[in-house]
Order: sequence, then structure tokens, then C-alpha cells
Amino acid sequence: MTEPSATLILFGATGDLASRMLFPSLYNLLADGLLPNDFLIVASGRTDMTDDAFRDDVCTALRKFLSADHYDAKIAKQLRAMILYQPVEAGNAKQFKALAARLDGRMEMGVSVYLSTPPSLFAPTAQGLADAGLIGPKTRIAMEKPIGKDLASSKDVNDGIGALFAEEQIFRVDHYLGKETVQNLLALRFGNMLFEPLWNAAAIDHVQITVGETVGLEGRVSYYDGVGALRDMVQNHVLQILSIIAMEPPARLDPTAVRDEKVKVLRSLRPMSAEDVKNCSVRGQYTPGAVQGQIVTGYADELGRPSDTETFVALKAHIDNWRWQGVPFYLRTGKRMPSRQSEIMIQFKPVRHSIFGRAGGLEPNTLIIRLQPEENIRLLIMSKRPGLERQVQLEEVSLDVSLTAAFAGQRRRIAYERLLLDLLAGDQTLFVRRDEVEAQWAWIDSIIDGWKEAGVKPVSYASGNWGPSSAIALIERDGASWHD
Ligand code: BG6
Repeated sequence: MTEPSATLILFGATGDLASRMLFPSLYNLLADGLLPNDFLIVASGRTDMTDDAFRDDVCTALRKFLSADHYDAKIAKQLRAMILYQPVEAGNAKQFKALAARLDGRMEMGVSVYLSTPPSLFAPTAQGLADAGLIGPKTRIAMEKPIGKDLASSKDVNDGIGALFAEEQIFRVDHYLGKETVQNLLALRFGNMLFEPLWNAAAIDHVQITVGETVGLEGRVSYYDGVGALRDMVQNHVLQILSIIAMEPPARLDPTAVRDEKVKVLRSLRPMSAEDVKNCSVRGQYTPGAVQGQIVTGYADELGRPSDTETFVALKAHIDNWRWQGVPFYLRTGKRMPSRQSEIMIQFKPVRHSIFGRAGGLEPNTLIIRLQPEENIRLLIMSKRPGLERQVQLEEVSLDVSLTAAFAGQRRRIAYERLLLDLLAGDQTLFVRRDEVEAQWAWIDSIIDGWKEAGVKPVSYASGNWGPSSAIALIERDGASWHD
């Protein structure tokens, strides 16, 4: 499947993701001449509206979400002319027929369907497409997360879609894989000789992955409550980052080779028992506080009632394979943190033998890969402090590579630009395979079951902190500390 699809059908087109991310991404692809010839976007939502009314909404969103210096009315007009709007509700065969009529004669040119709807609508929508004759060998389907809320429900979603599409036609979206910085982890690990020989338990003491956000619920109460940080962020984004950091080198940069290696890591995650979760996990929920100088309310106040949903989670994970035996992976993510900061920290072991005797300052090396907001790589190395002291004095200095500066002048792409382009082209490398999603859920389920059995509830933390103090204790018990 290498021919780019000439048609994109977008379900959930009146939603937030479509106006914030998907249409601005399509605009950018069009501006760069990357959309296929004779491209058509058939947008669909439950709301009844005309093509023109929907096109107006898209143009308003483009002006709002594209930076003013990047917005070009001529391109917006071209994009507008590519869009049709067709109201469709799951289960309404007449509306699916009307949708098919709008695609008349285009099936042979390839169709990509993008489901940006609640997951409960994935299977019924796919069935509607099948009944209207819209699924053929040249049809692909992309699904936004969440794929289920546990292993069993994710299997149901996958079975429902899998009954109508072959796995090669299914594109499960994890937008972190569309981020330039996450793809750069592959380049860093496998495009340099420097790191790979040391990338294992012999040289690495532990790994930290932090994805911190300053935002709170952002009006997503109905989705977020009952889901929480573990399912919302760890099950997908954090575990995808972990799998790229921990995977064996794939033989090629192709969808099968890359995803085979990632799934091996995910399957090697040590499940947690009720006993383990007490020592290896922390759940938190934010209370009122201040984030970057702004007073903010607590989660329960935003929700309007008390809740047992965690907005922060910290975990000590183990990957039971040869490479990572005995190397803890500390993971944490949360809302209302002091800063928006996603980074990976690789803490190397101390040198085997110090020739500097009791000289002060000898520290093990640290590699810090900052993914967002800015992109940089810092390697902390030991250096001699200049001076004539008889006893050599060591000091940590940092080798800094700012990728933002190295590639200055290049526009930072929206993650969805890459993903939409790959979907249209049929390249699955940056999409999540069924066995990956299921391995992710299997591990997450063990933690959720452990929490239930052990009665682990979220502990409060004041907004503007890196979670509850027990999250600090989680890592400090092992003699390490979070890199903030
Ligand atoms: C989404 C989660 O998948 O990722 C959100 O549902 C979260 O809760 C978002 O805010 C974070 O994405 P990014 O790209 O802003 O880091």
C-alpha cells in the first residue's frame, strides 16, 4: 500500500482535535505541496450543516490556531475548496449512503478514514462504512486514543475494527510518535556509535521519564474523570517513549522491524502485584495552588465533587530482559506541575575505579534528552577544575546540544502533520500495532488491579508541585532523585 490516498474522510470533524490540530496540519501540508493531487476532504460530524457553514468554521479555526505570520489567506482558500461536509451519525444507514455518494468514483484512488470520535463509535462507524461499500483494498483507517480502557475493552475495539480491516490497513494514533523529538530518539540511539555500547545494565544505573504538564482539566471533565493519568498518559505516550528508549536496534527502519522490537520491550515489563504497587507506584490529585504565578483551583473543585481519579502518577518499572536487568525505569506524569517539561534522563553508573582518590566532585555521567517545550540534549561529564591544587578537583560540566538552535529556521511541525502524511502514504512505522496496545494495557491493568486490591487512593498535592512527597520518596529510597 504505497499509493497516497486521494480522499480523507474525517469523523469527529466538528471536534476540538480537528480544529486545533488536524485542519491546521492539513493546511501546513497543503502549503508545502505535500497533499496528493486532486485531494478531497470529506468532513463528517453529527451536527447538520452545509458545506459552506463548515468551511467557514475551518477557516476561523485556521486563523485562530495558526500563527499570524504563517497564515496565508490564499492557502486557506485552496484548503476550503477541498472540503465537503456530510452529517453522519453512527447507525444511520441513509447518512452513510449519502457519504458514499459524495465519494462517487474515488474509491479506486484510495481513501483514508480518520476516526476522531469517542472509541465507542469506532466499530459502529466502521460497520456503517462497510455497509455503504466504503471499505475496499485501498481503504485505510486511523483511530485516535483511547483504544479501550483496559485490555478486555481494547480487544473488543480491535476485534470490531479487525473484523472489517486487515491489520495493514489499521493506523492507531499515538500523537507522541508524530513528534519530531520522539523520532529523534531513534536517530540519537541508532545514528551514533557513541551511545549504543553503553546502553545497557552494565553502564546505566537507572532511567527517568517525566512528562509534566501545567494545564489542569481544560474542560475535559467528562472524558478525564474515571480515566486518570495512568490510562491517559502512561498507557500510551509514556510507554511509547519507554519502548523506544529500551528497544533492541531494529534491523531496518520499517514498520515491522521497529514495532517488533518495541513490542518485545512492552511484553518484558514486569507486571505489578498489590504488594508491588505499594512500593513502586504513587497516585496523586492536585489541590488548589499556584502554577507559574497563577492561582489555580483543585481537581475536585473543577469537577464539582470529590473523586478518586489520579492526575499524577509516578512508577518504578522494571524491564525483565537481558539488557535491562536490575535497571529501574522511573516514570512520572502529571497535570498542574510547575512547568511543562518532557524529558528522559539516563543516569550512568559511577566509574569502576576512581584514580582521583578522595577528590571532591566525582559524579557519574548523566544524559538528559529534553523533548519539550524546547528540544535539547545535555551530557554531563567530569572535568578538572582549573587550578594548582595538589589534589585534582573535579567538576561536572555540560555538553549542550540545542537542536532548536542547530535547526533554527526550520518550522516546528505539528505532530499530526507527520501522522496524516504517513496515513495517506500507508506507512505504519509511527502507528501503534495491535499487539503493542494490548501489551501496554496488560501492564497497566496489573497496576490498576493492584491499586484496587491494595486500596491505593490518590494523595493530594498542591498545584505547582511535582506531585505528592511520596513520589520523591519513591526514588529517594533507592538513593536517586528526580531531575527537575
Ligand atoms: C493527550 C492527553 O493524549 O496528550 C492529554 O489526553 C494531554 O491529557 C496531551 O494533555 C498532552 O499532549 P502534548 O502534545 O501537549 O504533550
